[in-house]
Amino acid sequence: MPPADNPFLRACRGQLAPRPPVWFMRQAGRYLPEYRAIREKHGFLEMATSPELACEVTLQPVRRFGVDAAILFADILLPLAPMGAPFHFAEGEGPVIERPIRERADVERLRVISGEELSYVGRTLELVLRELPAETALIGFAGAPFTLASYLVEGGHSKSFERTKRLMWEEPATWDLLMQKLSESCVAYLKMQVAHGAQAVQLFDSWVGCLAPSDYERSVLPHTRRIFEALEGSVPTLHFGVDTATLLPLMARAGGDVVGVDWRTPLGEARRLLGPKRPLQGNLDPVALLAGPEVALREARRVLEEGRGGPHVFNVGHGLLPPTPPDDVARVVDLVRSSA
Ligand code: CP3
Repeated sequence: MPPADNPFLRACRGQLAPRPPVWFMRQAGRYLPEYRAIREKHGFLEMATSPELACEVTLQPVRRFGVDAAILFADILLPLAPMGAPFHFAEGEGPVIERPIRERADVERLRVISGEELSYVGRTLELVLRELPAETALIGFAGAPFTLASYLVEGGHSKSFERTKRLMWEEPATWDLLMQKLSESCVAYLKMQVAHGAQAVQLFDSWVGCLAPSDYERSVLPHTRRIFEALEGSVPTLHFGVDTATLLPLMARAGGDVVGVDWRTPLGEARRLLGPKRPLQGNLDPVALLAGPEVALREARRVLEEGRGGPHVFNVGHGLLPPTPPDDVARVVDLVRSSA
């Protein structure tokens, strides 16, 4: 099947279909027993950087559920190591940046990558593409500059983003340099992924919802926009963030053929903000998938209904959680597939 006939890629281009294509953020992860079986024997970063293991894990949800797209198994933090900011995952703590950014000299020391430093990701994409059914799309991804900056500056995950916001407000020139280096690296990394077979790419700006619209517009939008501009004429792009109800119009202006919406904003409301032609992705609450099949299916039906006014990619509003029962994911996939 040529990529033009792929249901996910058609929806990204704004074409209406009898039913939306479906995939899930974090669809390859700890909630799947077949993932845990591999994870018992290998570290997470080892899995993400070994093309054979990453390929196998990428394909697991495709085999189990028949989702319409596979997402590369990797992590948004991977480009930070070749940029000069090594990190590791601490048990129960999440990512730890070994030497967080504290002053301008730390930003000056960061390197802009060419993409080739992450050639193992290109190799993973090639392996997946060989095995993927033609009607299933292959999505690459990268972390957006703001979300990556927040990890670099905070040193790990954060609740209030104090250091990040202070750098943004108190040292705008240093902030811009950091955002520029991250944006340029992001473009190189995503272009490398496209060259190795990614058929669409998603930019994860997971934590940008901590900002007020005026700060987003001034300190984030110009950088994110340059990434989408650099990818114009390439593959379809998706732009995702969490807690973005008040940022959606600005995110849409920054770019992305498809705008990801979390569960706090009904899809109908997002359409009123962005216009009926802009493809939307989302937005089942991942917690609804923990609440038993009845709630999961009821909420999924509501999302399908609210998505009907225009092009829609069915997804969760944020990644699947480790306690998710795979059978309930299967039930939701079947519901979406039979909704035509
Ligand atoms: O969606 C997919 O299935 C593709 C793979 C993927 C992972 N992480 C796998 C992963 C993607 C797209 C990501 C993106 C990512 N990574 C984001 C943005 C998405 C989001 O959730 O908003 C962020 C913020 C990260 C950074 C990161 N990586 C965190 C916060 C964690 C969790 C740490 C923990 O212990 O809970 C990770 C680890 C991670 N990334 C896992 C997976 C499957 C779990 C690793 C394991 O097996 O222990």
